[in-house]
Amino acid sequence: MTSDSQTDSTPSPTATPFSGGWRLIAGPTPGPTPEDLAPLAGRTVVVVGYGNQGRAHARNLADSGISTVVALRDESPSRPEAIEAGLEVATPEAAIPRGDLVLLAVPDRVHGVVDRTWLVPHAKSGAVVGVLHGHSIHTGELSPRKDLGVVMVAPKGPGTTLRARYLDGTGIPALVSIERDPSGTAREFALAWARAIGCGRSGLVETTAAAETASDLFGEQAVLCGGVLAMISSAFEVLVERGCPAELAYLECIHELKQVVDLVYARGPSGMRAAISETAEFGALEVWRDRDRMIDRTWLRERLESILAGEFSRRMADDQSRGDAWLRTARRDAERQDLEAAGRAVRGLMPWLAKGDRG
Ligand SMILES: NC(=O)c1ccc[n+]([C@@H]2O[C@H](COP(=O)([O-])OP(=O)(O)OC[C@H]3O[C@@H](n4cnc5c(N)ncnc54)[C@H](OP(=O)(O)O)[C@@H]3O)[C@@H](O)[C@H]2O)c1
Repeated sequence: MTSDSQTDSTPSPTATPFSGGWRLIAGPTPGPTPEDLAPLAGRTVVVVGYGNQGRAHARNLADSGISTVVALRDESPSRPEAIEAGLEVATPEAAIPRGDLVLLAVPDRVHGVVDRTWLVPHAKSGAVVGVLHGHSIHTGELSPRKDLGVVMVAPKGPGTTLRARYLDGTGIPALVSIERDPSGTAREFALAWARAIGCGRSGLVETTAAAETASDLFGEQAVLCGGVLAMISSAFEVLVERGCPAELAYLECIHELKQVVDLVYARGPSGMRAAISETAEFGALEVWRDRDRMIDRTWLRERLESILAGEFSRRMADDQSRGDAWLRTARRDAERQDLEAAGRAVRGLMPWLAKGDRG
């Protein structure tokens, strides 16, 4: 039997980090204009780290005319690439004292150590610390000196997309939060930073680090990185156990995902359905009406509660303190799935994919 009803026992709302609602503080505007960037004129932004996000933030800021310094350790393998991109590079000890705004473009797990090693002794009095995701604030790992402002600008996409959209004159939305503003400059710095990297050409939404963290973790676990891969690997295995060649199963269940996701991204679910064949649409709607048998909402709710209660972050921190023992085992097991070999064979038909897209 199929059902299109919402489920039975939708929990009653209790206090959550989401109570602030949806607050659009700036809609799409061309730019950035000199007025947008004025709060950072004559100031220096230090970007600590030159990885996925750091590369895009540093290059977009510099291309918008903001004085930008990339802080990297002497031994950093990223130094040649940052210098090649025309950016000023210095060690954290040399760069951080110059920063009016210091962005932590390093993995969340090292925010605490970066704070203790470099921000506490070297940050300029009254400077503002910027994070790109709220996790370290949410867990309390990042706890900067009381005289420092703390803000978040979390672009909703990977650094490669942030850079590519900046270059093509568009942008991606960003979530902005002002966690602490002792000197009164934190809000204007955060907005100027968000606009300088191109996000003002899309929407800037004010939120809190707690709301951004909970929604971000849940979205990536339930859907984007966890749920999608769980679903496609289960579907792949069901096809293969019925005799379907692994490469064909990969092509149908995984490879074609991109075309569909691109349609959903640009047009939404109904727009995607309008663009596919009637056969595909009929099957898609049958599955959608039966979704409560396919997806266990009790499990999803438990996952969200575990995130809201901080249990997920504690489990990850425990594992990190044990040298990532669980993570390394789980990663190795996942890499051994049959679909990985099938994927290599299918991608081998499209050698241009290996070039990637680093922006
Ligand atoms: N990845 C994404 O798509 C994404 C999306 C939204 C938000 N974010 C957020 O953006 C932030 C950065 O994430 P990311 O994925 O861009 O990180 P990442 O690519 O892993 O960052 C790598 C950079 O961090 C530096 N680094 C690592 N450990 C360090 C340490 N102990 N001390 C100093 N530098 C260190 C590395 O230095 P070396 O050059 O010396 O190796 C490298 O330059 C995080 O808060 C993340 O949650 C990421």
